[in-house]
Amino acid sequence: MNILYIGAGFVGACSAAVSADSGHKALVYDIDTTKIEKLGSGDRDVIESCLFEKGLGDLLIRNNERIVFTTDYAKVEAFLDTCDAVFMCLPTPEVGNTGESDLSYYRAAANDLAEALVKRNDGKQEGYIVVVNKSTVPIEMVDETAHILDSHGVTSYGVVSNPEFLVEGKAIQGALKPDRIVVGAWNQKDFDVMKQVYQRFYDAPDVKYLEVNPKEAAAGKLLANYYLFAKLAICFDVIGRTAETFSDIQFEVLRKIIASDVRIGGWGFYDSLYAGGSCLIKDARSLSHQLQTSGQEATLVNDTYVANRRQLETFLARAENDAHFDWRGKKVALLGTAFKRDTNDIRNSPSIDILHFCKEQDVVDVAVYDPSALPLFQEMFPASESIHYTQHEFDAIVDADVVIIATDWPQFRGLADVMIGELKKKPLVMDGRRMLQHRYDDLKEAGFQIIAVGSPFIS
Ligand SMILES: NC(=O)c1ccc[n+]([C@@H]2O[C@H](COP(=O)([O-])OP(=O)(O)OC[C@H]3O[C@@H](n4cnc5c(N)ncnc54)[C@H](O)[C@@H]3O)[C@@H](O)[C@H]2O)c1
Repeated sequence: MNILYIGAGFVGACSAAVSADSGHKALVYDIDTTKIEKLGSGDRDVIESCLFEKGLGDLLIRNNERIVFTTDYAKVEAFLDTCDAVFMCLPTPEVGNTGESDLSYYRAAANDLAEALVKRNDGKQEGYIVVVNKSTVPIEMVDETAHILDSHGVTSYGVVSNPEFLVEGKAIQGALKPDRIVVGAWNQKDFDVMKQVYQRFYDAPDVKYLEVNPKEAAAGKLLANYYLFAKLAICFDVIGRTAETFSDIQFEVLRKIIASDVRIGGWGFYDSLYAGGSCLIKDARSLSHQLQTSGQEATLVNDTYVANRRQLETFLARAENDAHFDWRGKKVALLGTAFKRDTNDIRNSPSIDILHFCKEQDVVDVAVYDPSALPLFQEMFPASESIHYTQHEFDAIVDADVVIIATDWPQFRGLADVMIGELKKKPLVMDGRRMLQHRYDDLKEAGFQIIAVGSPFIS
């Protein structure tokens, strides 16, 4: 099949790579020239410097005959003559702090697409084409997409909702072995096109291939993300808080007890600074907005959001409350800027809020280190008198008064030896990921004070 991807972000680039690997011909269009050049470079390091997803570089290089990246809309128009499906992979961020989804990217792309679709085959619009919502969109967006296409006079088309369930850091691995594929369509013809797109997975014994209607698909995506978000919030705000409050209770032991119940399941028991990333917060906010604008209360959804926000505030406040730490004039080491390990995505990363907090507290310097996400972070916070970037975690902590671990990069687990053996100062250790949990006793014995999510103050 010939498949067009509009938007070459995490979703568009990874989906297109898997599509090419499944034997389809993919054209990927984006307005970001740098991103398109890098993704189409044929060089794994260059590709991954732009989108750090394990396996993406190799997959793109291996399938380079079947995948083209472009910023040239004339190529898109030519491709549409023989195109079977268009995947809309546009960003849908939150508008300010309103919960509403910013659909301007989606609408702009849909309008451009509609203008191009009416010109297909010299205006004859031969050949059936499906327009597939891969972006996470409001439940009723399927109607608006059809309306945009109709208003331009597009014919011979269907609108499908095919939400993406990728997990950043495991996007390629997950897309090559998906647990489920959800296809929302109004008619059999559209289901048939999508079956061909996903032929590779349709008959696979371990893939749940779910055919539903487009609104069920869109709602199912939002609700699944809310459920995951709520599980994380329970972990931080209820389980973690319990472990922080009572002595002689270890978070990891509570986790074992709770997660061994199959009804509860094992996912989401990682104490952290909050659930960040591009999706969970915004999708919960969007769900709440949609419910409230339809006359519902959305109380639990809103409380989950508040609990998630409270987590970082509580953690940072503990420096003063527990350790009587005065931030003014201090040197901070900030380890980890990616919102989680194995990605360079910094969207909704706690490290952004931590850096703003440090500025407000008049710290004298923040030394920042991350193994993959520094370039993006540096764009947001350029190096300055009070912010500098290091090539190694040790360089960041060497002169620090406080070390904050904000991302769960596995290499940070080895920091305790360096701290105990090589540091002249004894910085306050603020472990936002319980990365040093196995060494808290040793650190305490060596004279360190520790504030960790999921533990009472250790000193
Ligand atoms: N990242 C995830 O883990 C994930 C998982 C599931 C669903 N989603 C959803 O998928 C959608 C895309 O997410 P993402 O993470 O890939 O976003 P992203 O920001 O990484 O990528 C979006 C891309 O769209 C491009 N773009 C913007 N306007 C355009 C236009 N008019 N024409 C062409 N390209 C345009 C941007 O330049 C960018 O490269 C969102 O709705 C998101 O909620 C994301």
